[in-house]
Amino acid sequence: MNPISSAGSQDPEANAKKRRSAAAALRYVEPGSVLGVGTGSTVGHFIAVLAAHPGLVHSAVSSSEATTRALRSAGIEVLDLNEVTAIDVYIDGADETTRARHLIKGGGGALTREKILAAAAQRFVCIVDDGKLVSTLGAFPLPIEVIPMARELVARELVARGGRPVWRRECVTDNGNHILDVHGLSITDPCALECALNQIAGVVTVGLFAKRPADVLLVGTATGTETI
Ligand code: 5RP
Repeated sequence: MNPISSAGSQDPEANAKKRRSAAAALRYVEPGSVLGVGTGSTVGHFIAVLAAHPGLVHSAVSSSEATTRALRSAGIEVLDLNEVTAIDVYIDGADETTRARHLIKGGGGALTREKILAAAAQRFVCIVDDGKLVSTLGAFPLPIEVIPMARELVARELVARGGRPVWRRECVTDNGNHILDVHGLSITDPCALECALNQIAGVVTVGLFAKRPADVLLVGTATGTETI
């Protein structure tokens, strides 16, 4: 799997907004801190910002093999989560977000390690372009990582709950699992849905980040960055 899109592959306007939100994240990074780093094109911009500040951070814990490669190319030491006692700040993008900072993540397939790093972090700063901001989550299909042998079982359970799961056939996650993208959900109670879907046997991670939302949302716009 190659879950990180290259940092220049988006449409130019969205790309410029992503770059603005990524640049704004730098003010949340204390010198000498241990960073958690997510996955995706917005994070790609953030890693480029870090590369321009050599020696700023002590080290990073990465959410994917692709991010690990990008961090190492930027000269940043990458540690295993088991080697650190705390992550000072976790920086990551999202596929959708509300103003309550509830997120859908996993478009890049790295949702499990991303959720672990968000849980481990003292502070979670989410960086998005304003096209990701919605009033109700669910127009973006909800990614769910599943144990491969349980894929069809989980899919049937999701259909019973009103979703339309689609197997992301080309994708095997860094953990060796499969992903179902669930269409047709209007997520009015993200915490309740996250808890309910977590109970289905065979589900590894639900790409809803509501029980542990972002602490700060930096939204890149045409003219600057809005902080929520
Ligand atoms: C990866 C993710 C990404 O944060 C999400 O897909 C956003 O990606 P991008 O910054 O490329 O728009 O959850 O699993």
